[in-house]
Amino acid sequence: MTTSPQPVTAGLTRAAIFLVVTLKPDAQASACARAVCGDVATLVRSIGSRVLDGKLCCVVGIGSEAWDRLYGAPRPRELHPFIEITGKHHAVATPGDLLFHIRAERMDLCFELATQLMTRLGDAVASADQVNGFGYFDSRDLIGFVDGTENPADDEAREAALVGADDPGFAGGSYVITQKYLHDLQGWNAVPVAEQERIVGRGKLDNIELDDEAKPSYAHNALTNIVEDGKELKILRSNMSFGDAAKGEYGTFFIGYACTPTRTEKMLRNMFVGNPPGNHDRLLDFSRAVSGNLFFAPPAGFLEDAAE
Ligand code: HEM
Repeated sequence: MTTSPQPVTAGLTRAAIFLVVTLKPDAQASACARAVCGDVATLVRSIGSRVLDGKLCCVVGIGSEAWDRLYGAPRPRELHPFIEITGKHHAVATPGDLLFHIRAERMDLCFELATQLMTRLGDAVASADQVNGFGYFDSRDLIGFVDGTENPADDEAREAALVGADDPGFAGGSYVITQKYLHDLQGWNAVPVAEQERIVGRGKLDNIELDDEAKPSYAHNALTNIVEDGKELKILRSNMSFGDAAKGEYGTFFIGYACTPTRTEKMLRNMFVGNPPGNHDRLLDFSRAVSGNLFFAPPAGFLEDAAE
């Protein structure tokens, strides 16, 4: 088995589609899904090569129950269902067997790949949710702050996002946590900018991190900054904005890749329960999580080998 990763560390693009699919529980559906997952790299080449500089790529993630149905043993060591959190706010767990995280510089590329995948999956699909993500002005999310600044890059990104030698059968894989958030933008925009900045922990216009004296312990970037033995434990995020003005729906699709799900889970507990408990993330007073999933994105070769 090859350990080269899927394009987990590909970075932000102008467009993305987050496609989460549940499968019918029969053997035929599992065989179809295995074949489609094994074909993704070929489809990306066929569609992607139609547009120079389109940067089309796709990461496939498999949910915990689907893993057993599709691939059986051995399992990635830390793969389990998304852990629901009921704290000051609620991190819901929702169904999801397959994730297709499609990124490109143009939405037509993302859309074409999503369409080809859904056509091939056909009757194997029980339900599907598609979120069309876009990069908002100067990499901001819809709450108006630049998102992604403190993401690790290069070697640091690979170290943060990819499984290493401690699970040798799955080295090069990645644990992916996704959550779809809906924002109460009217409520958020009524908060004075100085308080918004304290909630996020950065300047809104200049994107500069607040000084330690100015940054409250409930700031988003204080609660999600986790340190163990003096070392920051990073994850790699690729959040995108989405929205439907006609429905008045405005959101952020959170997606975090990590070498172990425990990092992201700790951040979520800090946000939803608070650190210390009660000192929760005020962003959640204005942003509601309406989905929650954990997937494992195996190394690229695994999906192709398992489809044969
Ligand atoms: C930082 C937005 C959810 C983890 C940030 C920043 C913004 C932001 C604006 C500051 C700039 C940056 O460094 O990227 C949001 C929004 C969310 C959301 C709008 C959903 C409503 C989450 C979740 C997690 C998370 C669910 C993890 C479970 C992080 C981390 C940082 C960060 C690790 C960097 C902290 C540091 O400075 O070290 N987020 N975020 N975020 N966020 Fe989020």
